[in-house]
Amino acid sequence: MSETRRVHAPGRVNLIGEHTDYTGGLVFPMAIDRGTTFTYTATADSIELTSGDVAGRVNIGVPFTGSAANVNPEWGTYVAAMAAELGVTTGLRGHLVSNIPAGAGLSSSAALECAVGLALGFDGTPLELAQAAQRAEHAATGVPTGIMDQLSIAAGVAGHATLIDCHSLEVTPHLIPDDIDIVVKFIVHRRLVGSAYADRVAECARAEADIGPLRLASPDDIVRVTDPIAQRRARHVVAENLRVIQFATELAAGNYVAAGQIMVDGHASLRDDFDTSTDEMDAAVSALNALPGVFGTRMTGGGFGGCIVAICEPGSVADGWVVKPSAGAHHIA
Ligand code: GLA
Repeated sequence: MSETRRVHAPGRVNLIGEHTDYTGGLVFPMAIDRGTTFTYTATADSIELTSGDVAGRVNIGVPFTGSAANVNPEWGTYVAAMAAELGVTTGLRGHLVSNIPAGAGLSSSAALECAVGLALGFDGTPLELAQAAQRAEHAATGVPTGIMDQLSIAAGVAGHATLIDCHSLEVTPHLIPDDIDIVVKFIVHRRLVGSAYADRVAECARAEADIGPLRLASPDDIVRVTDPIAQRRARHVVAENLRVIQFATELAAGNYVAAGQIMVDGHASLRDDFDTSTDEMDAAVSALNALPGVFGTRMTGGGFGGCIVAICEPGSVADGWVVKPSAGAHHIA
């Protein structure tokens, strides 16, 4: 009988650097102490999975050659897409439990892809795992997402956030100080499928057609973007890339007021220039910013709902999750 094994993949929260990854910009996410844990045994010719959180049973043959997007239940689409991406010829039977809500902007799907990839025997580098998982995400959803979620989950480092250059794909761990809390608060479910996410990707490409790669552009270049909407999108991306560097610097120097203000500015830019916030998210961000001890709050993730994230003095926010910087996806001994 084959051995029972376990893998764990964390969720992630992005501290700053939103909607910059798909133009090769900078992001500053952190793998968190919430995630997906998957217990399984290897089997011969199928993948059979149940979940402690969502109904249904995934049952697909391997090698998987069908259309991942048509697999039911819906969470099985990610499993099938990852199996197809890796071209696996042997299967597994397993059960997964997760404490990352789906549709919250904390990358539950990327965690599932990375956990399934490791369970199916993937043995490349974290970057290669992330790239396979990103391709699986595209196949499963049709949404042209960037590499941030999968790479922050595959390459997470305990105690650290990761500054990722999404062009060079270099990952640089940055220590998270232990005299602040990072608080995540779940506001409302959102879906990126059918959202304006793909429109934002296209709008950024339009801006790049005028001024070249946004990752290389300076604030002075923005006026040369002819379409007014694409110009606002470009203004967000160019400023947000700078904010990532500034945030990492202020955090390392212990300048939490300045770091918090950068998060507040980042949220305003998502709201005013990138149009990915909502009234509900804006109100939640303002409410948290008004609390004593909170240095700064912003919406995190793809937008249109999901979670907000704040940095604050320890214990300042009672009704959120204090999340800890955690290791990336791994087998549990
Ligand atoms: C989603 C995508 C990421 C990234 C963020 C926005 O989470 O999956 O690639 O684009 O939105 O920063």
